[in-house]
Amino acid sequence: MPETKVSVIVNGTVHSVAVPPMKRLLDVLREDLLLTGTKEGCGEGECGACSVILDGQLVNSCLVPAKQADGSNIQTIEGSGLHAIQQAFAEAGAAQCGICTPGMIMAASALLCRHPHPTAEEIREGLAGNICRCTGYQKIFDAVEAVSRRNA
Ligand code: FES
Ligand code: FES
Repeated sequence: MPETKVSVIVNGTVHSVAVPPMKRLLDVLREDLLLTGTKEGCGEGECGACSVILDGQLVNSCLVPAKQADGSNIQTIEGSGLHAIQQAFAEAGAAQCGICTPGMIMAASALLCRHPHPTAEEIREGLAGNICRCTGYQKIFDAVEAVSRRNA
């Protein structure tokens, strides 16, 4: 099958890559752009480990064909503006194995963009698409709440 040229802006930098028709955005990020901070968990849209922000929307990059992302603006865990959330995760002990952590931070970033001071319910909803097998979630919620308090 012929490859398709895809151009995306990732973390402020323009990239053009030739991809097979059904190559996933997740694989383009990791394999073509060497941005391996975005993780693969389930590969089926269930765990949120592969979350990135695409044109302002949180998406599971394992479900996005790269050609569908052509012309879009993408933020990954390697992008800027995430330091406060990363710091709060570190301070709260909200990362253990770390597989879920980049996706959690992207989901937290999208949430805090929409709601700088989210309620507990909004935090639960904002992270509902992200599965963590290690932390029991409370420390992750605590980290997001800590960022919210610092936004005050
Ligand atoms: S790897 Fe994409 S949702 Fe699990
Ligand atoms: S820290 Fe291991 S899955 Fe969340």
